[in-house]
Amino acid sequence: MTDIKACIFDLDGVIVDTAVYHYKAWKRLANELGFDFTEEQNEHLKGVSRVRSLQLILGWGGVTKTEAEQEELATRKNTWYVEMINQMTPAEILPGALEFLEACRADSLKTALGSASKNSMTILNKVGIAQLFDTIVDGNHVSAPKPDPEVFLKGAEALGVSPTECVVFEDAIAGVQAAKNGGMKAVGIGSVQTLTQADLVISGLNEMSLAKLKEL
Ligand code: BG6
Ligand code: MG
Repeated sequence: MTDIKACIFDLDGVIVDTAVYHYKAWKRLANELGFDFTEEQNEHLKGVSRVRSLQLILGWGGVTKTEAEQEELATRKNTWYVEMINQMTPAEILPGALEFLEACRADSLKTALGSASKNSMTILNKVGIAQLFDTIVDGNHVSAPKPDPEVFLKGAEALGVSPTECVVFEDAIAGVQAAKNGGMKAVGIGSVQTLTQADLVISGLNEMSLAKLKEL
């Protein structure tokens, strides 16, 4: 049992289910380029940066593009994605997320967002929960993508706590690895078969409680 002082949350797939919007936008782009990819392949895009996601997709389609073309394609995808997230409402907060964030704060635990997305502020403002985080670290603030722990270490530093006092909530394999690489506890959101490195795996934040947190 550790003295936990802070919880760091991934956004996509933990607080909101934006993975479906990422999938729709990437699929539209692939289709325009003349190919398709499966939902299973899409699993490998979770937690992965925009640029790297595009490179993986182009690889699946056997398509080669210059760096300038890649930039244009990533921008095109992001425009469609932003159109979708601009329609989001508080109803799209995943079950239990709001309640657990509020419980943490009521218990004087610090809270941070640690996301790879450059669109995190748009999403947080749309669903109305930006004020529930003491600090927000996202794709605009980091140079090394998950599984590098940079995003979570920056969060811990901003909160003034040490990595060993943090618990990270993540739905991506790369995200759980990033937490462990940073010396933090990791709670996986998803399946035990996929998130093998997590200290605890739950299906959603509706299964989380302060009692479970303190047992980690
Ligand atoms: C992660 C998502 O949170 O953010 C990835 O899991 C996404 O699917 C990545 O590619 C980057 O997001 P954005 O919004 O900056 O394109
Ligand atoms: Mg995620």
